[in-house]
Amino acid sequence: MLIDIAPLKEKETAETPINAPINTGSSGKKQLYIKTWGCQMNVYDSKRMADVLRPLGYETTDQPDHADMVILNTCHIREKATEKVFSEIGRLRPHKKRRTAEGKETIFAVAGCVAQAEGDIITARAKEIDLVFGPQSYHELPEMVAQLTGAYGDKRIINTNFPVENKFDLLPQEESAPSAPVAHIAIQEGCDKFCSFCVVPYTRGAEYSRDVAQILQETRNLVAAGAKEIQLLGQNVNAYHGTGMNGKTWDLGRLLFAVAEINGVERIRYTTSHPKDMHEELYRAHAEIPQLMPYLHLPVQSGSDAILKAMNRKHTRDEYFRVIDRMREARPDIAFSSDFIIGFPGETDQDFADTLDMIKRVNYGSAYSFKYSMRPGTPATALQGQIHESIKDLRLQELQALVFAQSQAFNESFVGKIVPILIERTGRKQEQMNGRSPWLQSTVFSVGATAKNRGLGQTLDVKITSASATALHGELVLHD
Ligand code: 5AD
Ligand code: SF4
Repeated sequence: MLIDIAPLKEKETAETPINAPINTGSSGKKQLYIKTWGCQMNVYDSKRMADVLRPLGYETTDQPDHADMVILNTCHIREKATEKVFSEIGRLRPHKKRRTAEGKETIFAVAGCVAQAEGDIITARAKEIDLVFGPQSYHELPEMVAQLTGAYGDKRIINTNFPVENKFDLLPQEESAPSAPVAHIAIQEGCDKFCSFCVVPYTRGAEYSRDVAQILQETRNLVAAGAKEIQLLGQNVNAYHGTGMNGKTWDLGRLLFAVAEINGVERIRYTTSHPKDMHEELYRAHAEIPQLMPYLHLPVQSGSDAILKAMNRKHTRDEYFRVIDRMREARPDIAFSSDFIIGFPGETDQDFADTLDMIKRVNYGSAYSFKYSMRPGTPATALQGQIHESIKDLRLQELQALVFAQSQAFNESFVGKIVPILIERTGRKQEQMNGRSPWLQSTVFSVGATAKNRGLGQTLDVKITSASATALHGELVLHD
């Protein structure tokens, strides 16, 4: 499924800087500022861009005003993506001007899916942009930078090709240490599904799966560097069909079994899946792999057969229910989340009621919902029956109220229980830590001044004392 890798709410962006220690350039290295919008795949790409540029003497910074290179890694999935990029360029423009006056060079780059889709528009409208490159060509960054900065260098480069070579074969090894407790690995990219509302098949290109050996090696490296949870990423991750060590094609289910065998892998998740690509081995993986977490993001977009058809989703409402049932048979405690698009062209009151009914029947742990917006170049823009904004607003409110109540009830069902929490960061208040439950619930808990063993990356038992629709709160259980 979508570029939606980690489900994001409409307003939510992964605000980088990636890997960024506070850094003002005192190290003498060149400073790289990357701002990332959108999904986990974009976050992953940004990290890999930093890996590619590191041998050239760049280190990441969270301070754009000191940066020798600025990369805006963009997302095109929903509305106003291009405007967001231009307003960020506007904000950063004075820094480049000031640095130029000081005799310092600044490379200004736009990357990601907006760059891929609208590279020409960006360079025409923003003269300070030196470099535009799409998600498939960032392994060529050293050559692009050399071309820009060389004596006979080009003034500007637009690189939105889909190169014949595979970027994953050419990327350097990811930064070795230390890894965050939760690490991401892109295993699959692109999409051949062509849902009628979606830009991904155009911006990310055709579906591609990395080789099994590469993925397992990356997993081992990350675990050696301290990762406890491995999240496998792909726009359509359960369509994975990589070449295994035996030369045969492996599906995601089989890959999960191999990842689970690596020593030190405590938790595994994968996202984002498409209902059409569920397969036997994947159900079996959920039934048999203890490290595979009982939470699945499985976007359905609509509960109406007519709308699913118009969206070119390639499955019916009943087929989706069947997938949910099969998953629950395999892993009875599994929780689901989904994405919904409200106000797709032609959506009637009855279609919308079918979506509400689906939500009631599935009973989600959480869900993300978006008003339909036209994405240039996608077939749905030409459909009759565009829905008025005011109707979309009302429907969105109703759907979100229902989902909110479900999330609240789901989280409240944990109050009084002891839940293993993987600690990801320190909490806002002193003696507080923040982590995730197996069901991906964000959990804040107090560790108390005397508690031992409360470091990042540890999984600790936490007694849940209260819950909201978005988080659990609890206290560390002390075992002697
Ligand atoms: N309009 C509204 N929402 C969209 N999404 C993708 N394209 C559009 C669009 N044109 C949503 C889908 C997807 C999520 C990441 O973004 O719900 O699953
Ligand atoms: Fe997901 Fe459909 Fe977009 Fe592919 S085309 S990424 S399946 S929404």
